[in-house]
Amino acid sequence: MMAKIIHGDCLEKLKPDIFRQEGLDPEVCLTFLDPPFNQGKEYDYFDDSLPEHEYWLMMQTVCTRVRELTVEGGAIYFMQREKNTEAVLRCLRETGWTLQNLIIWTKRTSAVPNTIRFGKQYQVIAFATKGKRPRVFNRLRIDLPLRPEYRYGREDGVFVTDVWDDIRELTSGYFAGDEALRDANGERVHKQQSPVALLLRIILSSTMPGDLVLDPFAGTGTTLVVAEQIGRPSVGIEIDPKNVALIQKRLKIRREADSVIPLREYYRFTPGLEQIWQGTVSIPIPRQRQIALLETKQRYKHGRA
Ligand SMILES: C[S@@+](CC[C@H](N)C(=O)[O-])C[C@H]1O[C@@H](n2cnc3c(N)ncnc32)[C@H](O)[C@@H]1O
Repeated sequence: MMAKIIHGDCLEKLKPDIFRQEGLDPEVCLTFLDPPFNQGKEYDYFDDSLPEHEYWLMMQTVCTRVRELTVEGGAIYFMQREKNTEAVLRCLRETGWTLQNLIIWTKRTSAVPNTIRFGKQYQVIAFATKGKRPRVFNRLRIDLPLRPEYRYGREDGVFVTDVWDDIRELTSGYFAGDEALRDANGERVHKQQSPVALLLRIILSSTMPGDLVLDPFAGTGTTLVVAEQIGRPSVGIEIDPKNVALIQKRLKIRREADSVIPLREYYRFTPGLEQIWQGTVSIPIPRQRQIALLETKQRYKHGRA
């Protein structure tokens, strides 16, 4: 299988000898880092209310270990709450990573209200590399619909920028749609599940088929599920055995809602897309899937962007 899940604490597992024991070359090309945000939430297998400095020391260790496993020019995408932006940038700098972009991922269905400052409506994703230049950076083009105030359409789409406002987060309730994993009672099984469209953009931008993708805080395994569909081997580490079982099932029984195929059209103007995007032909195209693109189209059409 191209996707591998390791059960355990990533602080212990992010080591070259462990990778070799697991049959993997310690040559990571891309890491998606989506740790618990230390928000005091109840979890069975880790402490989500560490003193601030302990949490950031832990993240420094993770970033250092990931860097040791990463090939020259390999990338890391570190996602965090916007209030931790400064700490994220410091953590990456102090562990030897070179910042390429601070990506703003805007939320669509919720803003955190505030009485003394503006409501918060985005998460940050710091994109950094080992060394000054990325070994791979695919300039993706998207079919962003024309805003009402623009007079002339673009026939070949636009390049993706560092503001990502076309990928819907999986928030609570029905907004999360059928992509959210649920139990028999319809309850979400993991509140932090990342959207397929987010991982697709990250993996397509910073890898080529065959490049090893790593997710040290694998959660529901979105990174692995996406990587596998586009021909990238991947490895995830997850501390909670319930999540490990969830990931194994998600990889084994592919759900329509996890298919990346409906998103291909959106990226069709990308130069060399055939080389970048591989191996999805065997998955049927879901009929009824709501994708970010369609929603964005509506939004722009009605002038609410
Ligand atoms: C924010 S979630 C990641 C969600 C993921 N991006 C997805 O799409 O489902 C963080 C995950 O890290 C796991 N975790 C926490 N501490 C860990 C550790 N030290 N090593 C490995 N996994 C850990 C948690 O159990 C949780 O599932």
